[in-house]
Amino acid sequence: MGGPTPARRGSSFGLTFATMSVTILAIESSCDETSASVCRDGRILTNYIASQAIHEQYGGVVPELASRAHMQHIVPVVDIALRNAGVTVSDLDAVAVTQAPGLIGSLLVGGSFAKSMALALGKPLIAVHHMQAHVIANMIADPAPSFPFLCLTVSGGHTQIVICKSPLEMEVLGETLDDAAGEAFDKSAKLLGLPYPGGPLIDKNAANGDPTRFSFPEPQIPGLDFSFSGLKTSILYFLQHGRAQDPEFAAKNMNDICASIQDRIVTILLHKLGRAAKETGIKEICIAGGVSANRGLRDALVALGKKRGWNTYIPKFEYCTDNAAMIAMTAWYKYQQGAFADLSMSPSARAEWA
Ligand code: KG4
Ligand code: ZN
Repeated sequence: MGGPTPARRGSSFGLTFATMSVTILAIESSCDETSASVCRDGRILTNYIASQAIHEQYGGVVPELASRAHMQHIVPVVDIALRNAGVTVSDLDAVAVTQAPGLIGSLLVGGSFAKSMALALGKPLIAVHHMQAHVIANMIADPAPSFPFLCLTVSGGHTQIVICKSPLEMEVLGETLDDAAGEAFDKSAKLLGLPYPGGPLIDKNAANGDPTRFSFPEPQIPGLDFSFSGLKTSILYFLQHGRAQDPEFAAKNMNDICASIQDRIVTILLHKLGRAAKETGIKEICIAGGVSANRGLRDALVALGKKRGWNTYIPKFEYCTDNAAMIAMTAWYKYQQGAFADLSMSPSARAEWA
């Protein structure tokens, strides 16, 4: 263990402990990834993620199985995150955990573990909003976006355009009225007969396909909100029609279908993001969440950013899908503000904004 190191990102918060080193253990267990991360002064030391393959055979996350797998994974995951960071529990200054939103049984595993640890160590507990943390994943990189920035957060459960005015000051400008972008990918994949989670498989197949081969409709939703349920229905009818002509239609045209679906989802997302940038005049533009791992979205964002003169930011792959590093980074900002949670804090499945 080194001696005290200067805090890296505290200056804008009137930090009173600028020369102290602050080490935080963060835990994420909101859905089907058990993750632990150690962060020191806003620098991620470790980010360990245990995925749950068991859900594949059911075509989606089974909440009861997810909670059980979290219970099996949490001790070894925390242990490896601490050990690889060269940190022992006595070095910790706080324990952070995802409080909401998510599957309640999954959240309870991480929440109870973090509360017990904070209580046993006599250290503060920091409760983190999962969607806020996805946005803050962009602050892990160097250079990080400057405030205010816009973030398109696209995950399995959410699709939001957020204005981030300071690390903990965010406002949702638009969001999906029905399915999330990740759901649009996963449900399309299911219709194509691909296993869960289908998003990464559509991405992989799309890389070898022609995005102009098939055309899917773009919903006309006013303002900055999104809708993906119509797209899902049109894909269903498209495949029914194709399979009526040839039962092997989907298999024979898989790459082109995936590329065309992905292209439509990406254009729906980027049209609204472009509109938000125009309306707010903001040119610092980020993406976050599991779908920000999508190659088509990443490439299209960079291309659009060049055209519009934006500074674009995309988290590293490991910080796109659910991970504890984003929880640790958000907790670091909360620590600096003294925003600690009571040990009576209870996880919440709902997505109310922090
Ligand atoms: O953020 P995340 O890990 O979990 C939630 O908070 O929901 O997002 C998971 C979602 C899933 O729908 C998954 O299919 C999608 O992100 N996803 C992708 C890719 N990687 C993950 N979708 C499209 N392309 C990808 N490469
Ligand atoms: Zn997430």
